[in-house]
Amino acid sequence: MPRPLAPRVTDLAPNAFSAMTVLAQQHGAVNLGQGFPDFPAPEFVLQAARDAFTTGWQQYASPRGWPRLQHAIAMTLEPNLGYLPDAVEEVTVTIGATQALHAALQTIVSAGDEVIILEPRFDSYSPQVRLCDGVPVPIALEVVDGRWVLDFDKLRAAITARTCAIILNTPHNPTGKVFTQAELEEIAALALEFDLWVIADEVYDRLSFEAPHISIASLPLMRERTVTIGSAGKIFSVTGWRIGWTVAPSGFSAALRAAHQWVPFCATVPVQEAVAVALELAQTNGYYASLNAQFKTARDYFVPVLERVGFKVLEPQGGYFIIASCDALTRDVLEFSRFLVTEIGVAAMPVPLFHDPETRHLALPALRFAFCKRMETLQAAATRLERLIR
Ligand SMILES: Cc1ncc(COP(=O)(O)O)c(C=O)c1O
Repeated sequence: MPRPLAPRVTDLAPNAFSAMTVLAQQHGAVNLGQGFPDFPAPEFVLQAARDAFTTGWQQYASPRGWPRLQHAIAMTLEPNLGYLPDAVEEVTVTIGATQALHAALQTIVSAGDEVIILEPRFDSYSPQVRLCDGVPVPIALEVVDGRWVLDFDKLRAAITARTCAIILNTPHNPTGKVFTQAELEEIAALALEFDLWVIADEVYDRLSFEAPHISIASLPLMRERTVTIGSAGKIFSVTGWRIGWTVAPSGFSAALRAAHQWVPFCATVPVQEAVAVALELAQTNGYYASLNAQFKTARDYFVPVLERVGFKVLEPQGGYFIIASCDALTRDVLEFSRFLVTEIGVAAMPVPLFHDPETRHLALPALRFAFCKRMETLQAAATRLERLIR
């Protein structure tokens, strides 16, 4: 018998999202489960990649990031952050936002430290905290009058002497909640009172449909205790490119890089160059407005589709996803999502899977539909969903 493997790894559950994609493929279902765009990236982005792979630098670069990309990220985020980050000292390029989260947590969490996570949540938060030997502390967002709200008394009550950070995702996956200025001020006040880091996952920052997206790092005193995370994959619909970043105070960034240099060393260099060029061009070519309009159109098309076939929809204010409740459909939500893939031909994710097993009983009995898809894909899903009425 070989030696047992590390429980840190063996205790982790398999990724339900990839499993849903496999199931969708097996049944020829329209896949609104996993959140990846099914339309091509914009031509100016693809051209930047062709150029970078043809004539660009193909060797190692500094672990902190390709300098042109560090500068492009700093320039791109300046309006959101309310300050121009120091590109060299404060911006670090990572392998997608996923590794940015990992690097940030590695930098903050010591064994046994607690990290507050708002549920339902992006699936990687809890496993990532556990991989750092930390303890995820989930707090459930609640639906009040058709809107997702955070109970600040519960948030305060969850903070202990071991709490080191809160992960704040806005616009939020899976709920589509966009945190307001007032909510961010309350979170910032708690972070200041209890000396917490805020890991601000803002990968959907270009996809706020009504109110403008606000970065918590733009609030007074928050630059010094916030790690802002972004993703080129989400901005340019190239989730396979795996380029993300952290923007954090220089001392924090230096510590983060001390670990980062030993793990991936650096992100793929020609892809960094391509993202740099794309961010530069997007400053002036109207891309962000058209991206936002495209996603808003998709949301505005698909919400009524779901309502027509009997779902109660919590309309998202941002991001890639719609949560639709299926309590009217009288089935167990996990079983219902299976039925939807195998019999109706549409894949969606059960909301309970966005909770830890211990808090799954608090989950809304609902499904998450990704609308980051071509209109034809959404129309094909709509046609199939009509079968629910019949
Ligand atoms: C909230 C959130 N954060 C981070 C990520 C990961 O982004 P990336 O693909 O850049 O690793 C995702 C991807 O779905 C996400 O929804």
